[in-house]
Amino acid sequence: MTRIVVTGGAGRLGRSLVTGLVERGHAVVSLDRAVSDAPELRGVGQVAVDLTDAAAARDAVAGAEADALIHLAAIAVPFSAPEDVILRTNAALALNTMTAGVEAGISRIVTASSPTVIGYGAPAGWSIDRLPIDEQTPTAPWNAYALSKLLAEQTMRMLHRQTGDATRFAAFRPCYVIAPEEWAGAPTQQGHTVAERLDDPALSAPALFNYVDARDVATFVDVLLTAMTDIPNGEVFFVGADDALARRPLAELLPQYVPGTTAEASVLTGTTPAFSNAKAKRLLGWAPRHTWRDELDAHPRRAHHSGSPGPRPREKS
Ligand SMILES: NC(=O)c1ccc[n+]([C@@H]2O[C@H](COP(=O)([O-])OP(=O)(O)OC[C@H]3O[C@@H](n4cnc5c(N)ncnc54)[C@H](O)[C@@H]3O)[C@@H](O)[C@H]2O)c1
Repeated sequence: MTRIVVTGGAGRLGRSLVTGLVERGHAVVSLDRAVSDAPELRGVGQVAVDLTDAAAARDAVAGAEADALIHLAAIAVPFSAPEDVILRTNAALALNTMTAGVEAGISRIVTASSPTVIGYGAPAGWSIDRLPIDEQTPTAPWNAYALSKLLAEQTMRMLHRQTGDATRFAAFRPCYVIAPEEWAGAPTQQGHTVAERLDDPALSAPALFNYVDARDVATFVDVLLTAMTDIPNGEVFFVGADDALARRPLAELLPQYVPGTTAEASVLTGTTPAFSNAKAKRLLGWAPRHTWRDELDAHPRRAHHSGSPGPRPREKS
């Protein structure tokens, strides 16, 4: 059992992560702006704190008396606030919480990044030399959200340079996170359902058809925490499903939405996703258990009969 402090534990991914870590026998404390009455957080220690305040972050993280820190708190959607606010907020959150973790003597520190760091969807164009995308793919953020996630990775590396291997660090880039209730038909963050995202490839194309089940993110974090003392310090991982969130092969679909990728996408046959999860499999022995094919079959009625899609914020993953 590890005592884990999760920042942003009341959020969309945070609630599933907290649930998964508690199910695996860990004691979890969530730090978030407000105490949440979400059922997933019942019985979990919660502290209301504005983590952009460095002193408050230091007190809250030290007070959790944790062995591991998972930093999720962020403005998590591109363009959901002015660019300067997103950059300033997410940069401060990453610096404050990870620094507080180091100062509190927490030995394992993990930060959430995002696949957006590689820059797909850039208005002036984006090209890729090779698919699938993996951790060797160059980073090229084109908006403040993606830049702030790259900054979180760099903040982790900066702290690693300060502490050496006294603290173990890692960062992960979760693909578009789908929580259990969303398989059952609840709207995803963009307002439409998973089934609608599959039926209309234009909805899934901005994230290059990537996704991951939130429960698989929880198992990823669990195995990562166990492995962190044995793998190289400061590693970054993509965390994605084994298949693409698409009904047709990406070799066909991707070139329709990302012009100029016909040759590179030709390797994405069958159900192969655009994002490789091979590094997490190789270094951690982790594998995702959930796929949209099984999950939608398990919830056929509600998943295929959604209500109004509502307004659609920008894609996050
Ligand atoms: N959900 C995805 O598809 C996805 C994909 C890639 C990366 N991520 C990353 O995963 C993390 C979690 O994303 P999410 O979808 O759960 O987002 P979310 O918005 O649902 O949760 C973020 C949480 O952070 C908290 N927070 C924000 N500012 C804070 C502050 N100043 N002090 C304390 N808490 C604060 C919010 O209250 C919220 O509960 C983020 O870092 C996001 O960038 C998410």
